[in-house]
Amino acid sequence: MQTKWLFRFSLFTAISTFCLLIAGGMVTSTGSGLAVPDWPLSYGRVMPPMIGGIFYEHGHRMIASFVGLLTVVLTFWIFRFEERRWVRKLAAVGLIAVVIQGLLGGLTVKMMLPPEVSAAHATLAQTFFCVVSALTLFLSPWWLAQTGHKQEIVDSKIRRTLAVVVAVVFVQLILGAVMRHTHSGLAVPDFPLAYEQALPVLSPEKIAEYNDHLIKSDVRLYADGPISREQILIHLSHRYWAVVVFGLVLYASWKLWVLRPTEKRFGLLASFLVLMVLTQVVLGAYTIITRKHEIIATAHQSFGAVLLMLSVISLLSVIRAGGTERSQKTGSGGDALVPEKIL
Ligand code: HEM
Ligand code: HEM
Repeated sequence: MQTKWLFRFSLFTAISTFCLLIAGGMVTSTGSGLAVPDWPLSYGRVMPPMIGGIFYEHGHRMIASFVGLLTVVLTFWIFRFEERRWVRKLAAVGLIAVVIQGLLGGLTVKMMLPPEVSAAHATLAQTFFCVVSALTLFLSPWWLAQTGHKQEIVDSKIRRTLAVVVAVVFVQLILGAVMRHTHSGLAVPDFPLAYEQALPVLSPEKIAEYNDHLIKSDVRLYADGPISREQILIHLSHRYWAVVVFGLVLYASWKLWVLRPTEKRFGLLASFLVLMVLTQVVLGAYTIITRKHEIIATAHQSFGAVLLMLSVISLLSVIRAGGTERSQKTGSGGDALVPEKIL
């Protein structure tokens, strides 16, 4: 009974965290990061008038406080009733992460949104989401019911493939966050080509031409200042890396799909992975075509978090269903399976 409610509470915390990611994404997309210039209070008050950008920035802070509270409760609950030490450790990591995340949020406001701090805030947000999602998986009835002896899964080498997928998606998220917070999202205004070339020339003369083009086509105003070589490079890295992400996610999904007779949920996870990576490519392109429409850019950022979370959950599920080499030999499964020992 206790376990069932703990799982449900963890799931609720994960869903609330996802809503918080959307709310945070809207702060960035609407450029409301400095709509409230002070922190921890907002205009010296707990509840300022929710008008203009304040709605997004203060709303985000309110949801963040709620998620912080949920994380505190979840951690204490896990410490009180969970016997697996590594689950307790992960819950503590989650709690520390949410505290640092709140501090980074405050810091980025106090420091007037430096790209490094804002990008770190964006990256830690998605990492925290993965931690809460992983905790939910570890507390789930599916995880607890596994015995971890499915040799076909170990033989398929899917673990390594999924570990690589997690890493490449994470790199893509960092590139995306750096792009967003260095305002490089429209440094290349066309898609799929870049300034009508597959590999744009980046000589000073060409960059001056690109800047002229950006102003004439109303992508940027003269007052915005010119786009730099570095901004174009950041933008292109995210685009080219997307090809790697796309290919690897499709490959891993196929390998996972093949394993569905052994474990039904792998078919579902594989389908969601394919759906998410396709959605991301379409939304990425639309972010550019719509000149960073707030909803589209936020959807792209939030679905990026879903893709990362799904890769992590797939990797952990595969580890759990296959078991460790030791558990394969000795026949012991159950709580002896510690993901960090396998990785
Ligand atoms: C659990 C805690 C929090 C989470 C998970 C979280 C998550 C996020 C996310 C996902 C974004 C969007 C990043 C992007 O689109 O690139 C964001 C933006 C932002 N967050 Fe948070 N946040 C949290 C707490 C806070 C707090 C306490 C503050 C306090 C001021 C804050 C201030 C901001 C600001 C100012 C931005 C916009 C940054 C920019 O546009 O450069 N956040 N947050
Ligand atoms: C293939 C998988 C992809 C993933 C997983 C992905 C992920 C992300 C994420 C997570 C962000 C926001 C990071 C943050 O601020 O927290 C982002 C930003 C961005 N992505 Fe992608 N992306 C992908 C493909 C693409 C493609 C193909 C394009 C199109 C060329 C693209 C264009 C953009 C743009 C323009 C932004 C910045 C938006 C802004 O400045 O508001 N992405 N991406």
